[in-house]
Amino acid sequence: MLQSQKFIEKNREKFLDELILLLKIPSVSANPTFTNEVNNCAEMIALGLKNIGMEKVEVCPTAGFPIVYGEKIINPSLPTVLVYGHYDVQPADPIELWISPPFEPQIKQTEIHPQGAIFARGACDDKGQMFMHLKAVEAMLQTGELPCNVKFMIEGEEEIGSENLGVFIKNNKEKLKADIIIVSDTGMLANDVPSITTGLRGLSYVEVEVVGPNRDLHSGLYGGCVANPINILSEMIASLHDEEGKITIPGFYDSVLNLSDEERAEMAKAPFSHKDYCTALDIEDTYGEVGYSTLERGSIRPTLDVNGIWGGYIGEGAKTVIASKANAKISMRLVPNQAPEIITDLFTKHFESIAPKGVKVTVKPHHGGESAVTPIDSIGYKAASLAYEKTFNKKPIPVRSGGSIPIVAMFEKELGLKTVLMGFGLDSDAIHSPNEHFGLFNFYKGIETIPYFYYYFNQLINK
Ligand code: BES
Ligand code: MN
Ligand code: MN
Repeated sequence: MLQSQKFIEKNREKFLDELILLLKIPSVSANPTFTNEVNNCAEMIALGLKNIGMEKVEVCPTAGFPIVYGEKIINPSLPTVLVYGHYDVQPADPIELWISPPFEPQIKQTEIHPQGAIFARGACDDKGQMFMHLKAVEAMLQTGELPCNVKFMIEGEEEIGSENLGVFIKNNKEKLKADIIIVSDTGMLANDVPSITTGLRGLSYVEVEVVGPNRDLHSGLYGGCVANPINILSEMIASLHDEEGKITIPGFYDSVLNLSDEERAEMAKAPFSHKDYCTALDIEDTYGEVGYSTLERGSIRPTLDVNGIWGGYIGEGAKTVIASKANAKISMRLVPNQAPEIITDLFTKHFESIAPKGVKVTVKPHHGGESAVTPIDSIGYKAASLAYEKTFNKKPIPVRSGGSIPIVAMFEKELGLKTVLMGFGLDSDAIHSPNEHFGLFNFYKGIETIPYFYYYFNQLINK
């Protein structure tokens, strides 16, 4: 057993108390009201890095929120691990659905987390998971057991597209030199079914507007005579899927890399209960592209979803009106080798082409990002797999995730580095939703597993 495990065992309470302080800061990057808090959070991370013994700790300014950097080079001839995470969080709304306030962390038991889970915005995504790395490195340093050099790069704009991190990476290639990147910002299948994320989907995100008449109209006087933007937008959106759940945008699937039958058979081995899945979401059945399982629909297949839609009268009672315009926000999750720019382009051309005369359509692209995959025969994956096997007593299953961390593809492009996604959250942890939480079991398991990653990575790279 590694000595660091004893240090972790002795410091469980301290670690949790420190995480609670971090979770109290409402570092919501999307909302300007919280600008000061986001900056304060960066300072707190910097302090946390200094306290565990990191050197050259800096709060690096960007055009947006700062990137916190720190390193410990014990010996230039040792391999270097670069840790990435984010300290910004999603907005907490709708606040009224939280059982305890989002920035007043509380430990509560749940069915899935009988040992308790910490409830707060950012508990799992990503403060709790990012903080595991600080504590694991602290444990290795305190026990003189750190077998690799380590660099931390913690950003504050992941939830809003990581645009400034992209710039930072391009400008700091030397500083960020490493052998592998590790990130805990994903999940695993279940606490007794450890898994490692081997893929992330890409993202293309657009906002559309359909404009009809130059003003809102009386729906009796004009109803039936002019194109109603809300009706039209609804029809246009509905037409984006066919009856088999396929996306109808011409060329949308052209570059999709299909999995071999062997790969699909391997994926199908991951435990999945249709009944439990439906029960957890209070739905009668799942829904999606014909010919693919739920696990496949949510990971290896591209999708299109409306994230928000608005227009017209939504106040109390009935107002008879034809709105002048209607809007929607639409996300497309992409898979290898779909390029987000090309997909956004295809969407725009198609959406404009299906608009009837009598309305004007505009499509505004938002941030996007490419998909990423980690090969399971890489040293990084193997080291992570051995580490999980050590602490869970079970070999982890490789699974592709449906979520996106656009910067991962950029790490590969700009730094030439692969990323290992060592996530410890669960899909049921309600990230981005009210009552986000992170299991204490998962928090401590993460801290325990990370030192083994360093240990095995050092061993494997020297082989
Ligand atoms: N940590 C998530 C991504 C994630 C969660 C991947 C769980 C796999 C499993 C990240 O913070 C996130 O929310 N990403 C956004 C994209 C970003 C550009 C806003 C997403 O996936 O919607
Ligand atoms: Mn995240
Ligand atoms: Mn997120």
